[in-house]
Amino acid sequence: MTKESRPSSALRIDGQRLVARLEELAAIGATENGGCCRLALSDDDRRGRDLVVGWMRELGLAVSIDPIGNVFGRRAGSAADAEPVMTGSHIDTVRTGGRYDGNLGVLGGLEVVAALNDAGVTTRRPLVVAFFTDEEGARFAPDMLGSLTHVGGLALAPALATVAIDGKVLGEELERIGYAGKSALGEPRAHAFVELHIEQGPVLDIEGVSIGAVENLQGISWQEIEIVGQSNHAGTTPMRLRHDAGYCAAAIAHFVRDLTREMKGDQVGTVGKIDLYPNLINVIAARATLTVDLRNTDEKLLLAAEARLAAFLLQLARVEGVEISTRSLARFEPVSFDQGVVATIEAVAARLGYSQRRMTSGAGHDAQMLSRVCPAAMIFVPSIKGISHNPAEDTAAADLEAGANVLLHTLLELASRE
Ligand code: GLV
Ligand code: MN
Ligand code: MN
Repeated sequence: MTKESRPSSALRIDGQRLVARLEELAAIGATENGGCCRLALSDDDRRGRDLVVGWMRELGLAVSIDPIGNVFGRRAGSAADAEPVMTGSHIDTVRTGGRYDGNLGVLGGLEVVAALNDAGVTTRRPLVVAFFTDEEGARFAPDMLGSLTHVGGLALAPALATVAIDGKVLGEELERIGYAGKSALGEPRAHAFVELHIEQGPVLDIEGVSIGAVENLQGISWQEIEIVGQSNHAGTTPMRLRHDAGYCAAAIAHFVRDLTREMKGDQVGTVGKIDLYPNLINVIAARATLTVDLRNTDEKLLLAAEARLAAFLLQLARVEGVEISTRSLARFEPVSFDQGVVATIEAVAARLGYSQRRMTSGAGHDAQMLSRVCPAAMIFVPSIKGISHNPAEDTAAADLEAGANVLLHTLLELASRE
């Protein structure tokens, strides 16, 4: 490597190498229909981690792993003691995930490092490429658990004690897969954080725009609702005498849809999981457990949606003669990203000649946690037909490349700063 140098504006990442790495990682936990299943801290997550850590080492990065299993690969800068500029995302997926969600941000970061290595460029500030544990929250709630713990929003002990949907304990799973690291939690502290991600929604694709400069991200409220009614015979029990937990679960799902319709605007709501017990055709359900995911860019409106749901649950319990209890699984307020970093992304995209727009993120991301401790923002690339959390998730190779090029020059810009 040369000593600190001002890199040429002509520098570009290698799009084919980026796609090849994405494909190699997607082969781990590949599902029949082109998707990917690497639930956090599963055996496939371990295999994915091993592959990415191997690449980090090949690229000359110094790898550290913290006690919640977040992995950081550091590339030295000419100002050795300066806080690094960090990029990254996650490599865990939902059970029916695609190949780009999270993975693009991590492998895009490695591609930036590879391009800098090839060109012999040393940045002033060090660069760190990170991947954070359990971003999806699909196995262990809350989502963004690793980055939340990294920024001090969740203490290590309760984080390690988190119980999975399959009953396993996070800390034990972390030990089992060999990723309970020893580096100091919260280190390295970043000077700034930039995350490259697929949009996971339809805006860029519909508008034919290549790059989204993400300036804010909506608030997230996850809760689990348990309904206890009474099992009885499906043929003999008069309708007026039922305490049907299954009906109540359906009524809640219906209410959530009506609520979002009434609130219009940016309110979204999802009942993504319902479990009934005993779950038999001729038995009235004694128990139902379901999840509600509510999101809004406006914290006041999100609070109002939560209050409306709580009032509905009280009324439903009274009318149906069932017991209803709730448990919060995740609650994060809407986030505004750093205007300076957003403006840098915009300026870089313009300089590189890509079409772009400012936008909001509908999904949760590690960058929202990092924004609590340093200036942060995100770069989005289009998701074809807006499909994500689905094996059909797709992004054109040219857009993957464009996003990584914007990441490259955004990191170069931030890493050159005092
Ligand atoms: C994370 O993928 C989320 O649910 O937004
Ligand atoms: Mn993601
Ligand atoms: Mn996701």
